[in-house]
Amino acid sequence: ADKKMWGGRFSEGTAASVEEYTESQSYDRVLYEEDIQGSMAHARMLARQGILTSDEAEEIVQGLGRVRDEIEAGEFVWKRELEDVHMNIESRLTELIGPLGGKLHTGRSRNDQVCLDFRLYVARRLDEWKDLLATLVSVLADKADDNREVLLPGCTHFQPAQPVSLAHHLLAYAQMFKRDHQRVEGCIGRTRISPLGAAALAGTTYPLDPAFVAEELGMNGAFANSLDAVSDRDFAIEAVFTASLTMAHLSRLCEEFVIWANPAFGFLDLPDAFATGSSIMPQKKNPDVAELMRGKTGRVYGALTTLMTLIKGLPLAYNRDMQEDKEPFFDADRTVRASLSIMADMLEEMGFNEDPMREALSKGFLNATELADYLVGKGLPFRDAHHVSGAAVGYAERAGKGLEDLTLDELRSFSELIEEDVMETLQYETAVARREAPGGTGPESVDRQIMDLTDWLDSL
Ligand code: ARG
Repeated sequence: ADKKMWGGRFSEGTAASVEEYTESQSYDRVLYEEDIQGSMAHARMLARQGILTSDEAEEIVQGLGRVRDEIEAGEFVWKRELEDVHMNIESRLTELIGPLGGKLHTGRSRNDQVCLDFRLYVARRLDEWKDLLATLVSVLADKADDNREVLLPGCTHFQPAQPVSLAHHLLAYAQMFKRDHQRVEGCIGRTRISPLGAAALAGTTYPLDPAFVAEELGMNGAFANSLDAVSDRDFAIEAVFTASLTMAHLSRLCEEFVIWANPAFGFLDLPDAFATGSSIMPQKKNPDVAELMRGKTGRVYGALTTLMTLIKGLPLAYNRDMQEDKEPFFDADRTVRASLSIMADMLEEMGFNEDPMREALSKGFLNATELADYLVGKGLPFRDAHHVSGAAVGYAERAGKGLEDLTLDELRSFSELIEEDVMETLQYETAVARREAPGGTGPESVDRQIMDLTDWLDSL
């Protein structure tokens, strides 16, 4: 039998295939910093509670510091037979400081430890997501500020509907990423809960002080129920859900960029640094970054599905299945961070083309609603006004013109109520300028939106 930490009741060693199948040290070693911090806090708490002497705790803390130095210097020898990051570190600690190392695990289980490490790790990554989201909101607000005068067709069903400013369009995305930021914030609050002291599942007989450990680690508090403490992976699932929604938002924006970059639209010029060419077609400038981001959204949803499926049939409390919780999070974290950062960089460089956008406004009768509203202003019931405007659209379409290209006489043939002032009404700029109700595309409303976002960013 080999000498596993848990090997007391075993007489034969683990099969090599099983060792390979069950190990997690190959990927959970990234939790080393959190593991060491958690162990240091646990040791200090044990001393405060009189379970260790303060000299013992001090020696353990120093030993853990040496282990950290070894890991960071790349000198640490990771051992597969020691399964995971927790036992690798504890085993090395005991090599360094002797049998005293064995006292560290008093009143603690790996079940508490792995959950603590993962919570600390996830919370730190979520802090980074928050920063990246705030940066993206700020870039969108700046771009909006630069493009307040630029108008483009607002669509429903991807059909031209009403004119909006590009600023307003970009600010819609800023709102999505602001909500993502708030979701991450909420998730951090629930993630920063320490499970240390759950002692595998039932709570402990030692006079531990979980609240002290939680405070030492900068967490919001300790667990309320020991079974829940070691079984709960909500925080990771919620984090990956938040990442999924962020990717969905990024993906929608990417989709618009892909469409806008098509020469039939020509709404934007991809910065060279964010586009790629074709090996056969010399003219090509492809929006690969936007396409890949749209594609990578799928793998983040995949991580969410993995985690939701992982947890669904598990009885309380810890089950080894839960070791599978880490890689999906790591992958989602890598993907969402890279995507947020590259989207902000790409947006900063992106050039929007005012003329093709303006040109597109004249196709699709985006001022038909204005004509109907104009007639309502002259006393016609909206349903009738809608009909009159529709008839004028039909006429203009057959003539191959826009409503604004019709003569006053032509327009008046649809309603006697139409007068000279209709020409002003049919201008796209007028349509946008009149939408000053809160949250609308009017220039003052857009200014207010930018100001509110700036205030929010300043408050972070
Ligand atoms: N490597 C394990 C995990 O990631 C740590 C906890 C193991 N606990 C146990 N009793 N086997 O979940």
